[in-house]
Amino acid sequence: MKAVVQDSYGSADVLRTADVEMPVIGADDVLLRVRAASLHRGDWHVMTGVPSLIRVFGFGLRRPKGRIRGTDVAGVAHSVGSGVTDLKPGDEVFGVCRGALAEYASASARLLVKKPAGISFEQAAAVPTSAVSALQALRDAGRLTAGQRVLVIGAAGGVGIYAVQLAKHLGGIVTGICSSSKVELVTSLGADTVIDYTRSDLGSERYDLILDLAGNRMLSLLRRSLTPTGTLVIVGGENGGHILGGAQRIIGAMILSLVLRQRLTGFAAAHRLEDLLLLADLLAAGSLTPVIHRVYPLSEAIDAMRMLESGDPQGKLIITP
Ligand SMILES: NC(=O)c1ccc[n+]([C@@H]2O[C@H](COP(=O)([O-])OP(=O)(O)OC[C@H]3O[C@@H](n4cnc5c(N)ncnc54)[C@H](OP(=O)(O)O)[C@@H]3O)[C@@H](O)[C@H]2O)c1
Repeated sequence: MKAVVQDSYGSADVLRTADVEMPVIGADDVLLRVRAASLHRGDWHVMTGVPSLIRVFGFGLRRPKGRIRGTDVAGVAHSVGSGVTDLKPGDEVFGVCRGALAEYASASARLLVKKPAGISFEQAAAVPTSAVSALQALRDAGRLTAGQRVLVIGAAGGVGIYAVQLAKHLGGIVTGICSSSKVELVTSLGADTVIDYTRSDLGSERYDLILDLAGNRMLSLLRRSLTPTGTLVIVGGENGGHILGGAQRIIGAMILSLVLRQRLTGFAAAHRLEDLLLLADLLAAGSLTPVIHRVYPLSEAIDAMRMLESGDPQGKLIITP
C-alpha cells in the first residue's frame, strides 16, 4: 500500500510517499481502509522530534518509532480482530489509528466510533485529537460550568475551532482571540466576542476560565485577566523552546498555583472512547461542526504538513488516499 513515511526527524522534507507492507492487526484491532485523515500539531511534533522532551517520552530517541505519520482517521472497517465485537467489516468509523497517512491503517477498536450518517469522511477525520483535546481542556481541566466567562487564546487553531463551539455548547460566554484574517471564522463558530490580537489584546475583562492554546503571553498578564478564583488551563503553544516545549512554563504555573486562589494548570489530552462517542453524538445533532481548510491528496501530504507548520490554516487539513 502507499503511505507517507519518514526515517529520521526533521522538517516536512523528511516525508515521502512509499510502498509499504499492509498493517497487521491484533485481536482487539480493526484494519481500516482509510478514506480521510487529518493533521494536528502533534503530528508535526512527532515528525520533527521537537521538543526533544517527547523523544524521551517514548516517541523514539533518534527517529520516530512509527514510520507512518498521522493518527486521526475516518474510514471503512476492512477486517476486524477476533476479539472485536462492536464493529464489523463495512462499518464506517472515525477515531485514532496508527499511521493515518496511508491507504490502510490499524487501529484499536477501543478508539474508533461509528461515523454519523450525514457526516462525510473528511468531516469525521477532522475531529478526533483536536476536539477531544478541546473537550477535556474545557470540561475536565477547566471544570467549565454554564454561565461562566471563557477566553480561548488561539481560537482559530485546530483545537480552538472546537474549543469555541464546545464552550458555547457547555453554556459558556465565549471570547476568542485570533489574528485579523481569522476573526470572521471565530465569529462564525459562535464566539460572543472576538479579539483581533494584532489590534488589541487582553483588556479589563475578567474570565472564569482561560484556555491558552498559543502560550506566548506572560503568566502575570493572564492572571490579571482571571477572576480571583478563575482557572487558567495551559494547553500548548509553539514558542516554549526546542528542548522542553513550554513544560517549564506549566510547571512554574502549577507551583505558583499552590499559593493562589486562582487555579493555574497544565493539561494532557487522552484519547477515550466515551469522549469520541460524545463527539459523534454532537456531530450527529449538528451541535459541533468540523471546519476544513483544505483537502489534499496523499501525494501532497508534505504540502499539507508545511501548511500546518505555517499556522495559517483556517480549519483542519485533510488528506485523502
Ligand atoms: N496538552 C495537550 O494535550 C495538547 C493537545 C492538543 C494540542 N496541544 C498543543 O496546543 C497548541 C495548539 O494546538 P492547535 O492544534 O490548536 O495548534 P494550531 O492549529 O497550530 O493553532 C494554533 C493557533 O494559535 C494562533 N496564535 C498564534 N499566536 C497567537 C497569539 N499570540 N495569540 C492568539 N493566537 C495565536 C494561530 O493563528 P493566528 O495567530 O493566525 O490566530 C493558530 O490558529 C499546540 O502547541 C499543540 O501542540 C496540546
